[in-house]
Amino acid sequence: MKVIVTKNNEDASKKAFELIKEEMNNGAKVLGLATGSTPIPMYQDMVNSDIDFSNMTSVNLDEYVGLAPDDPQSYHHFMQVNLFDKKPFAKTYVPDGLATDAEAETSRYNKVIADNPIDLQILGLGRNGHIGFNEPGSPFDSETRKVPLTESTIEANARFFDNENDVPKFAYSMGIGSILKSKKIILMAFGSAKADAIKAMIEGPATPDCPASALQNKDNVTIILDTEAASKLADSAKIEKTA
Ligand code: F6R
Repeated sequence: MKVIVTKNNEDASKKAFELIKEEMNNGAKVLGLATGSTPIPMYQDMVNSDIDFSNMTSVNLDEYVGLAPDDPQSYHHFMQVNLFDKKPFAKTYVPDGLATDAEAETSRYNKVIADNPIDLQILGLGRNGHIGFNEPGSPFDSETRKVPLTESTIEANARFFDNENDVPKFAYSMGIGSILKSKKIILMAFGSAKADAIKAMIEGPATPDCPASALQNKDNVTIILDTEAASKLADSAKIEKTA
């Protein structure tokens, strides 16, 4: 696991986009993508670039259960607005929030992942250590499933909704096991609210209590932080350290 600490989220996002381009030059065809505020500057860099993604496939991590693809709060809509409308991909996959048969939808999505092995997965990090919507307690070998969101995640995501009660209580999420099958993984985290989760993920034990700790001891994982998110790490003074 390589940990890169940058000055701010702009530098971090540029670094992440450089790694994406490097992987595309090496033949990567499938990107695993995340939503939330963390990857937005990176998506802006992608949009403002002259890189063509029209032969690329994307597989997103998760979607709220109950939200239609065109719902402004849905992750499907988020991806359209922040990336796909401006940089078309050959094929994009997001779980179907309107699917009522959870078993059918999660099997369908597991097949999507199996048919489109992810070359490079982009991850954000929840304050509670979640990746995708794999909340604390999620098994490291989990596949796509319907998951209840924790109170802390509902509270953190309430900023995107008019009312906390409008935040969906369930999501379809790619599992940790599926994430770990990606050839390469980049996790980004910015701001002091992520510092405890970053410390637990990098320095704590590898345990489902901190889902992101599943990434420990993997040499295909790059963590890109700003100084605030790295502030509780034992040696946060280093600009770049390899663990
Ligand atoms: C989003 C996702 C989540 C977020 C995490 C951080 O697709 O899977 O794990 O990456 O909740 O969210 P932000 O970036 O909004 O702090």
